[in-house]
Amino acid sequence: MGSPSGKIAIYPGTFDPLTNGHASLIQRGSQIFDHIVVAVANDTPKEPLFTIDERVQMAEAALKGTDNITVEPFSGLLVDYAERRGAGVILRGLRAVSDFEYEFQLALMNRKMKRHIQTVFLMTDYKWLYISSTIIKAAASLGGDIKGLVPDNVYRRLREKYGYPYPLNE
Ligand code: COA
Repeated sequence: MGSPSGKIAIYPGTFDPLTNGHASLIQRGSQIFDHIVVAVANDTPKEPLFTIDERVQMAEAALKGTDNITVEPFSGLLVDYAERRGAGVILRGLRAVSDFEYEFQLALMNRKMKRHIQTVFLMTDYKWLYISSTIIKAAASLGGDIKGLVPDNVYRRLREKYGYPYPLNE
């Protein structure tokens, strides 16, 4: 077990798939913390479109090039994983007031289980306030234009998944 440190932050989520909103928050987090571990949840009540391997691989490809960001799958309790990883901080993003209740509950429950692990919130950039993985998938599944809302590799994978070939010049 690593010793908890405030310098490593875990950014957990389902990332089904990673969006530009997530990517922006991770990049900003990487300027605050020494290291960001993007932790892709294996156990999730949501029924993911992409497998755990696909979600990790897509996030890795989208985030490559920044030395202090790594992407890993995780199973079990988030706070146990954070402790094993030697992280003292769980990083979460807040988009709107509607996120607050769930995030507050999650942060307090995690704090109840491991008091030494702090949850830190960053505001999502205003450009990404309205997007979520679910709304991106809803639009993409019907052929809607989601270019610019997700990283290019995610865009291609969504088009493939839903059977909409992308033009060769994209
Ligand atoms: N920009 C755009 N969208 C964002 C965003 C941002 N900055 N931040 C979050 N979102 C969206 C996501 O796309 C996601 O959309 P979706 O619901 O349509 O899929 C939604 O907000 C929330 O997702 P995310 O931030 O990925 O969190 P999550 O709710 O999927 O993940 C875990 C929750 C994995 C962190 C939580 O379930 C967990 O810790 N699980 C492990 C078990 C555990 O310890 N549970 C807690 C016990 S109390």
